[in-house]
Amino acid sequence: MKIGILGTGNIGKTLVKRLSAAGHEVKVANSRGPETIDADLLSSGARAVTTQEALSDVDAIILSIPLNRIPEIAPLLAAVPDETVVIDPSNYYPFRDTRIDAIEAGQVESLWVVEQLGRPIAKAWNAIGSASLADKSMPKGTPGRIAIPVAADRDQDRAVAMALVEDTGLDAFDAGTLAESWRQQPGAPAYCTDLTREEIGAALAAADKSRLPKRRDLGVAVMQERLGDGTTNPDAEWGVRLVRAINM
Ligand SMILES: NC(=O)c1ccc[n+]([C@@H]2O[C@H](COP(=O)([O-])OP(=O)(O)OC[C@H]3O[C@@H](n4cnc5c(N)ncnc54)[C@H](OP(=O)(O)O)[C@@H]3O)[C@@H](O)[C@H]2O)c1
Repeated sequence: MKIGILGTGNIGKTLVKRLSAAGHEVKVANSRGPETIDADLLSSGARAVTTQEALSDVDAIILSIPLNRIPEIAPLLAAVPDETVVIDPSNYYPFRDTRIDAIEAGQVESLWVVEQLGRPIAKAWNAIGSASLADKSMPKGTPGRIAIPVAADRDQDRAVAMALVEDTGLDAFDAGTLAESWRQQPGAPAYCTDLTREEIGAALAAADKSRLPKRRDLGVAVMQERLGDGTTNPDAEWGVRLVRAINM
């Protein structure tokens, strides 16, 4: 497939490497221009381009950018054909994204993104920590392979997102519609807890929407206390132990 990826941060850089290595034709952009993209990231065959170029003439687009940056790319996405699959790995963290009243009032994060973009999306890769994504990919069929939820409203969006998740070394678990995707948001039992295909269905079912914001913010508070800021990502083992203790 031809894939455009926005974002070369914690999540984007691993998606670029994995999807290029899986044989896809990947274009990648950050907010500062192609010349600022690390050569190492391009060694797997991806091409550094502008944001606009990353969104044109592709089969799928991945928005691995902070949630609060999504409105600024909405005008560019307006020109993207309806059949292009747009995949959103983003999460709402008020300390980083500043307060978004609709989400604070209970709007499902993926539906807020749909509203900003004015088009359907699939939600995937939001519920795995960057260290697990980078270090724990496994070939299909390996016992203990991590499963992550994929939510979408259109069959084509779901099918493409699930296939690409598999290409990044993870089991793709069909988590239903975007309206149900609060079950994979920060604070939920299935969020960044590195569960397997056998475990993740029960974790999604066990989510309690009213408890998610508190548990999300507890996780941030502990990470800020132990790691010194809100942006350093924990190593996979410590991060998973912490989130399991709070969310499960
Ligand atoms: N970190 C995790 O463990 C994790 C796990 C799952 C999901 N997520 C979610 O994934 C999203 C990205 O997180 P992250 O940790 O990878 O963020 P990050 O490390 O801060 O990277 C963000 C990237 O987005 C780029 N960007 C911002 N605005 C852009 C624009 N308008 N056009 C093109 N690129 C743009 C930035 O480019 P510049 O550097 O040039 O500004 C940067 O490369 C967030 O919503 C996060 O919640 C993160």
